[in-house]
Amino acid sequence: MASFTPAVVMDNGTGYTKLGFAGNDAPSFIFPTAIATRNTSGSGKPSAPSKPSFLTSSGSSGGNLSQKRGTEDLDFFIGDEAITAANGPNYGLNYPVRHGQVENWDHMERFWENSIFKYLRCEPEDHHFLMTEPPLNPPENRENTAEIMFESFNCAGLYIAVQAVLALAASWTSSKAVDKTLTGTVIDSGDGVTHIIPVAEGYVIGSAIKNIPIAGRDITYFIQNILRDRNEPDSSLRTAEMIKEQFCYVSPDIVKEFNRFDREPERFQKYLVDQGFGRRVSVDVGYERFLAPEIFFNPEIASSDFLTPLPEVVDTVVQACPIDVRRGLYKNIVLSGGSTMFRDFGRRLQRDIRTLADARIHRSEVLSGTKSAGVEVQVISHKKQRNAVWFGGSLLSSTPEFKSYCYTKQDYDEMGPGIVRNFSLFNVP
Ligand SMILES: Nc1ncnc2c1ncn2[C@@H]1O[C@H](COP(=O)(O)OP(=O)(O)OP(=O)(O)O)[C@@H](O)[C@H]1O
Ligand SMILES: [Mg+2]
Repeated sequence: MASFTPAVVMDNGTGYTKLGFAGNDAPSFIFPTAIATRNTSGSGKPSAPSKPSFLTSSGSSGGNLSQKRGTEDLDFFIGDEAITAANGPNYGLNYPVRHGQVENWDHMERFWENSIFKYLRCEPEDHHFLMTEPPLNPPENRENTAEIMFESFNCAGLYIAVQAVLALAASWTSSKAVDKTLTGTVIDSGDGVTHIIPVAEGYVIGSAIKNIPIAGRDITYFIQNILRDRNEPDSSLRTAEMIKEQFCYVSPDIVKEFNRFDREPERFQKYLVDQGFGRRVSVDVGYERFLAPEIFFNPEIASSDFLTPLPEVVDTVVQACPIDVRRGLYKNIVLSGGSTMFRDFGRRLQRDIRTLADARIHRSEVLSGTKSAGVEVQVISHKKQRNAVWFGGSLLSSTPEFKSYCYTKQDYDEMGPGIVRNFSLFNVP
């Protein structure tokens, strides 16, 4: 029976979890990676990261969760329900994933428990699971994941994939895609962090990865501050986020865009912002439409700590990789994650990276006195970009080969958690 059921694909991001079944076009559920637990001491503060109790107790083996926990431990909510619950006095809100990595394993386990039983409503024994991890995830984190998936949930099989590799696979749906390659530079920009990850033939070049501390949440806060400065009647985080998602775009030239804004201010005023759940509010939307995403290209607008523009970081990352893969990395720059969704984000990025690469080639031509063949810079935007990691996981785990790349409960029992430190790479034939 197990071999005919689709794999479960779970991508637990810092901000949002994407949850669904292999072979589908989109996740069945997208909700905040948040859990609300009952306050014990009256404080709603997040608790310290900890391992689940059964990981530290001796002789643990399979079994169900309610045996391991008292019933009070089942009193929690995840996702949007968690945010609602935490608005009241009795529950505190926790985010178990920080900067892409699981930090609180007890909360993560409960989050997975509800994800599987309450949302997906499936029996983990019948399913193989594809889970995702950020680049440079410590190997102990994989082991912790395996312990929970096999010992608490008794899942049939497990594969843990690096998010950037899945994002490359997702880009194959684009007409510009470079023929099912697993070589490329992934720009994954989610809620908490933006990673620039070079991948050569499916392997992450860890030494060249760079992170920049600008992502969706920072842009939302930036917009919120502008709304407050203007004394807008509604300057909630939700409204700021909705303005960001519904109205922001990347302009080719910020100075010209400001001039245009001065000439035609009416183009920017009074929009109905869709708040979800059938609620709409009317707010003025001004120059934040193009200024907010400009932070990626001119970070000094919002911060005095981090000043390198994203295109420059991408160029530095590629230059830090072995010379024989650089061409492939420039040719296949793949976008992934919610914060790459701004209109014309890819177009501006491509233009700016190309300018940097051309300038370098020109300098070396002058120095060496020889003519270079140049380098092709291509940024791939595509329809699955928003949930690219999840979609790449859905694509790979729906192949007939997938299950043979997973570890099973039996492998785990025989070899111990250490086996999940290595997974073989697989590709769609
Ligand atoms: N259309 C859009 N335009 C701009 N931003 C968007 C859009 N849709 C979603 N976002 C933003 O994308 C972010 C969520 O992206 P994503 O789901 O990729 O992040 P994550 O995986 O939770 O986080 P991370 O990758 O940092 O761990 C949020 O900040 C959200 O507001
Ligand atoms: Mg993500």
